[in-house]
Amino acid sequence: MKKDEKQYPFLKACRREPTAYTPIWLMRQAGRYLKEYRALRRKYSFLEMCKNPELAAKVTLQPIEKFKLDAAIIFSDILIPLEPMGVEFEFAKGEGPVFHHPLRQMKEVKKLRIIEPEEEISFLMKAIRIVRKELEGKIPLIGFSGAPFTLASYIIEGGHSKNYILTKSFMYQDRPTWDAMMEKLSEVLIRYLNAQIRSGVQALQIFDSWVGCLSPHDYGKYALPYSKRVIEGIGKNVPVIHFATSHSTLLELMKRAGGDVIGVDWRVDIGEAWGRVGYDVAIQGNLDPVILLASVDLIEKEVKRILDRVKGRPGHVFNLGHGILPNTPIENVAALVDMVHEYNSSQRGKG
Ligand code: CP3
Repeated sequence: MKKDEKQYPFLKACRREPTAYTPIWLMRQAGRYLKEYRALRRKYSFLEMCKNPELAAKVTLQPIEKFKLDAAIIFSDILIPLEPMGVEFEFAKGEGPVFHHPLRQMKEVKKLRIIEPEEEISFLMKAIRIVRKELEGKIPLIGFSGAPFTLASYIIEGGHSKNYILTKSFMYQDRPTWDAMMEKLSEVLIRYLNAQIRSGVQALQIFDSWVGCLSPHDYGKYALPYSKRVIEGIGKNVPVIHFATSHSTLLELMKRAGGDVIGVDWRVDIGEAWGRVGYDVAIQGNLDPVILLASVDLIEKEVKRILDRVKGRPGHVFNLGHGILPNTPIENVAALVDMVHEYNSSQRGKG
């Protein structure tokens, strides 16, 4: 039976409406832990898959065909808008993203292009339209972007970093150039996210994965104003999930930056985190992805612990605290999805 969009449990939970069971999706649910994904990756590079709408749509749907997930997330990457902005990178084998010309100077920031996402990232918009057709009446589709800080960290560091020394030095030593870069990134992200909505996504997640390296004071000064600007720039009313990691000291400030749902990793107690951000927003999280490598018994204990901490309060979206690991057994993923659906509905049945 086809569901009305308003009745999708995931979207209802984002709006903090009661649902019959806790909805669940998993960050990086389309990816290397699936043999179907690995089979395609033997033929195509990661970026080739992102840039081919049919392949990106196919990969988006792979986990949906296997597990009873409550939302799909479009297959892409937070770095995708950087290339048309003029920042080139590649995914080096086993290394993650590598930028050959990290940005360090004002004259380079001036060259960053403000893009037209519908034209310059048309492959993503097309992939979204294909997936929406496939999922019509079944589950909703989530679009996403990085947050300005996390994208700036890649542009400046030239890849992943441990301590973000270059990013922070830039921020502290050349505020005008930092602001200029963050303004450009914010403008591009506003255009990019709105283009995804026009193409059909029904919710958005903003990944500020590495912002936990900042003190609350610096988050408020150098990152929050831009995250806030991006979230306020989202025109149509679709739920926004605001996610970060290692951000337990930043939760209240992140809430101030915006979002209908705050995403939390496993380093915080989800019940406490929700109390701190307030019950006027929903919460997403927060199973440690490494738990999925353990026994089904342990997974069950942890799932119950998390669900008990949120006490069936409307507005919880179950997820991992960060992306699913490539060596995760798929039986454990299937067991997790069933547990979350079943445990909670039986609890709610008891009233
Ligand atoms: O969640 C999903 O299923 C949607 C697809 C998605 C990918 N990346 C696919 C991907 C999403 C939402 C992202 C977001 C992303 N990308 C983030 C934010 C989330 C997070 O993990 O904090 C970041 C920081 C990136 C940048 C990125 N992309 C890195 C650092 C890497 C290399 C590390 C790794 O996991 O390999 C990627 C590559 C990447 N993005 C893969 C996938 C499936 C693996 C590519 C491959 O097949 O080799």
